[in-house]
Amino acid sequence: HPKALLRAIQEDGDYLLQLANQHIVAGDQLDQNTMKQLFRLAAKIESNPKRFSSPLQNKILISAFYEPSTRTRLSFESAWHRLGGDIMSITDRSTTGIAKGEALADVAEMFNNYGDCVVLRDNQQSSLYEMMDALRIPIINAGNGLDEHPTQALADLYAIFKWRPELLDASSGAQIKIGVIGVPNKMRTVRSLLKGLSVFAHAVSELVIIHDAASSAELFAPGQREQLSQRGIKVTTSTELNDCLPSLDVVYINAISWEGDTFHTYGDAFHLHAKSPLKADAIILHPLARGEELSTELDHTPHNWYFSQARGAVFLRMALLTCMVERAERVIDVV
Ligand code: CP
Repeated sequence: HPKALLRAIQEDGDYLLQLANQHIVAGDQLDQNTMKQLFRLAAKIESNPKRFSSPLQNKILISAFYEPSTRTRLSFESAWHRLGGDIMSITDRSTTGIAKGEALADVAEMFNNYGDCVVLRDNQQSSLYEMMDALRIPIINAGNGLDEHPTQALADLYAIFKWRPELLDASSGAQIKIGVIGVPNKMRTVRSLLKGLSVFAHAVSELVIIHDAASSAELFAPGQREQLSQRGIKVTTSTELNDCLPSLDVVYINAISWEGDTFHTYGDAFHLHAKSPLKADAIILHPLARGEELSTELDHTPHNWYFSQARGAVFLRMALLTCMVERAERVIDVV
């Protein structure tokens, strides 16, 4: 329940003030204190969303998704609606001047005139940066090709800390062993999650990457394994899912991998199902959409935290958006 997380974090809204007008690009750009305060605000909103129904009145979100999305687009738009704002949504770049060769910098200049915040998903990694250079309103990276999906990582961490709030407190000694099924180098949600975990390294006793043998040579994005090790996270790898599962507290599975600017389903080489040898109190996280790799048999078990993860993303995004666009101190005054 979000109230346990609320109790675990002492309020200090000053950290949220720095989010005003800030672009959100990478999974590790926020420091630990800012993330904690963001999770606290998200938990506060989740505990009573109706108290936050007006911070973005008369503000306009430009929701630009040039690649398919169910959760990210709709949860951002739901979050903005719930905060009282209005939305302009583009779901197909061919309906804009980009199809006629318009430069992204010019599109960004127009966005400055029409809205208060941009959420962008694009299979081209560079589009985000081309737009950022011309934007005077904040932009959120909602997935830029293979590169990153930072608000998914924030939603993943929010789910983990709601489950075990004591993990936020380094002095508690609480730690979890996390298994990630897939190839981080080819999964933007995992790339961002590993960066986010590096900010909370004290909470991770071990990170196990469980992958197919064919991907052994290309597991990590450049510098990612070194970043985790430098922060003190023990990183191991395995190709044997069922050998790993009995010791894992959190199992993170993903269906989508990237080759260049094109996504594929990762396949069902690894499959979680009702007979998988999971620890009794282990949770499964999945950014969704799922494929064959995650059996629906698990939906009605206590291991299912993936639906809670997706639901919590709305409140996490409400907290983030309201601090980016409205001054956080006014939001905090509401409570
Ligand atoms: N988690 C996620 O990015 O899902 P969508 O592709 O549906 O947005």
